Amino acid sequence: MVSTKMEEALNKQLNAEVYSGYLYLSMAAYFEETDLSGFANWMRVQAQEELSHGMKFYDYLVQRGTRVTLSEIKKPQFSWESPVDVFEHVLSHEKVVSGMINDLVDLAIEERDHSTNNFLQWFVAEQVEEEESASDALSKVKFASEASNGLFLLDSEFGTRVYTPSTSE
Ligand code: FEO
Repeated sequence: MVSTKMEEALNKQLNAEVYSGYLYLSMAAYFEETDLSGFANWMRVQAQEELSHGMKFYDYLVQRGTRVTLSEIKKPQFSWESPVDVFEHVLSHEKVVSGMINDLVDLAIEERDHSTNNFLQWFVAEQVEEEESASDALSKVKFASEASNGLFLLDSEFGTRVYTPSTSE
């Protein structure tokens, strides 16, 4: 069992991960509308990853004999000014999520909950990758936006992204 405080915090993070999936799906829908189907694909893959993150919290709570409490998922933003604006949002969102994971680790340490701390270390490493991937994509989108057919070429590249389940799934 985990403490009540930790139970609440882990359930809150489950919600935040599912919300992230919802946000990226909203970004995918924005790109479908602007006919950048490769960009939409990139966001769909991102959304799938977030749902898998949410399921990791779900499974951990179950494993610890703790109640999974699902709560309302807030409505995501649905409109952006440009592809660059979208990817700036992705990077800032991932930084916020990294902060949330760090807060959870702080709580686990405070409570001397070594199991939860160990579980969270996967997310600590994952957030490094998430921020790097968002930052790389943002640089590419900025660069592509300045070239005449840059977005078209990048759309083909983003269209090849596939969802790869993590090894622990
Ligand atoms: Fe689940 Fe992109 O953080």
